[in-house]
Amino acid sequence: MTYDIIQPHALTPACGAEISGVDLSDDLSEPAIAEIRRALLQFKVIFFRDQNITPDHHLAFARRFGDLVDYPMVTGLDGYPEIVPVVKLEHETHNFGGIWHSDTTYLAEPPLGAILVARELPPEGGDTLFANMGMAYEALSDAMKAMLGGLTAINSSAKDAVAKSRKDRQKNMGAVPDPLVAEHPVIRTHPETGEKILYVNIGHTIGIKGMDAAESGPLLEFLFAHQRQDEFTCRFKWQPGSIAFWDNRSSQHYPINDYHGHKRVMHRITLAGDTPV
Ligand code: OGA
Ligand code: MN
Repeated sequence: MTYDIIQPHALTPACGAEISGVDLSDDLSEPAIAEIRRALLQFKVIFFRDQNITPDHHLAFARRFGDLVDYPMVTGLDGYPEIVPVVKLEHETHNFGGIWHSDTTYLAEPPLGAILVARELPPEGGDTLFANMGMAYEALSDAMKAMLGGLTAINSSAKDAVAKSRKDRQKNMGAVPDPLVAEHPVIRTHPETGEKILYVNIGHTIGIKGMDAAESGPLLEFLFAHQRQDEFTCRFKWQPGSIAFWDNRSSQHYPINDYHGHKRVMHRITLAGDTPV
């Protein structure tokens, strides 16, 4: 695939590319946005470095890719309801979303993607891992692919590890939102690329429709271990001004919680997705 305006530099053969040649505080041309979108689809997650963008630039850039949605579990910044602060403070031990996951698959229409801007980073640590779920699907045997093709997964916002990881962020919210549950195909077809995607995740998937726990438990445990193999991943080391834009339909991510005693502040905007099929 060739690019004329941007220059993608792949991180690993599996996923992730750093994009140079664009300043996200500019009003980018349609062809530039189209190339960024093409790179997002190709690499599953794209990264930008040394971007000096304000919340208004962040919003303007995100809007070029579709409608924005509020994140259901945490409130946004003052004056910017669509920008959710993803924060871990010095005295906190849990990091937000601190387990492998695809964002909010407990919604009927999970997001297309998210754009995360690094605002304050620990001196070391706080990297984020990403994994390519098209590659995870392809690596399964034909027999497993055939079996999974007919199955529906049940996803919930209330799984322990994830619910814990949000608690510090919900302290000032008054009532914590009720658990949300949604059913999606175990294998979804990417709406833009047609690629088949393994669409369960350890953060949110609690069962398989029509199976009891004795059946779905071992199957899901296998899939959770399968899908996070190093060969499907890349690891992004953040710097001030770094931005990650992930395709939430075809990737998962895992923020590493290795910087206790230090603060990490990120700003996130979420793009509306569609019903997985
Ligand atoms: C998120 C998330 C990753 C990170 O914002 O959805 O999982 O690196 N954050 O903070
Ligand atoms: Mn996340």
